[in-house]
Amino acid sequence: MKNIKIAPSMLCADFIHLGRDLDIFAERGIEYLHIDIMDGHYVPNFTLGPDYCRALSAYSSIPLDVHLMIEPVDFFIPRFAAFPDTLITFHPEAVYHPLRSLQLIRDQGARAGIAIDPATPLGTVRHLLPYIEVLCIMTVNPGYSGQALIPGMIDKIREASAYCRESGYDILIEADGNVSWENIPLMLEAGADILVAGTSSLYDKKMTLEENITRLRTMCGHA
Ligand code: DX5
Ligand code: ZN
Repeated sequence: MKNIKIAPSMLCADFIHLGRDLDIFAERGIEYLHIDIMDGHYVPNFTLGPDYCRALSAYSSIPLDVHLMIEPVDFFIPRFAAFPDTLITFHPEAVYHPLRSLQLIRDQGARAGIAIDPATPLGTVRHLLPYIEVLCIMTVNPGYSGQALIPGMIDKIREASAYCRESGYDILIEADGNVSWENIPLMLEAGADILVAGTSSLYDKKMTLEENITRLRTMCGHA
């Protein structure tokens, strides 16, 4: 059984009770804090920034999974690479030279990944795969929580997982967007390794955060 990792979408967190939620995440062994950085330019929304990451990193030892939905990318990489154990994913669609951007992330001591838009074919990022640890498959259009899964994205997860396995790449496939109770089994069966859990599962208001974490862990085959 794969060790499926849960990455709460901090965009969807309870901002008023953030410390309480982070304590629960730490108690439950949550593996990453997924932080959606949006600049109102690359995506039509404006969200979290380096100071928010700094506050999280100062309070919690859970590694940050920083999802840069920004343009430009390179200029801001050092700001986000400053936090220990940080994974930084960016959209190659937003840069001219993605291999340079990946090298910059690694030179700054962070872990490197890419996140691809639903419309971006896997084939266009094939030459980046040897240089990444995480491939984030956007299953909704980047920019907002609360959206519905785009049909075909489960097959894209499956295609990415199979291609990486057959190519011998040790890459974690991350599913980001509408990771719902209904979609999770499909995403796991297709090969997702990391689930960005947001409004349609982890923060499902019908149950408590602890109950939702237990339900997620059970669905992922954990005790
Ligand atoms: C899209 C965002 C969302 C968010 C999760 O740009 O990245 O995927 O993290 O939100 P839900 O779970 O509501 O899709
Ligand atoms: Zn994200």
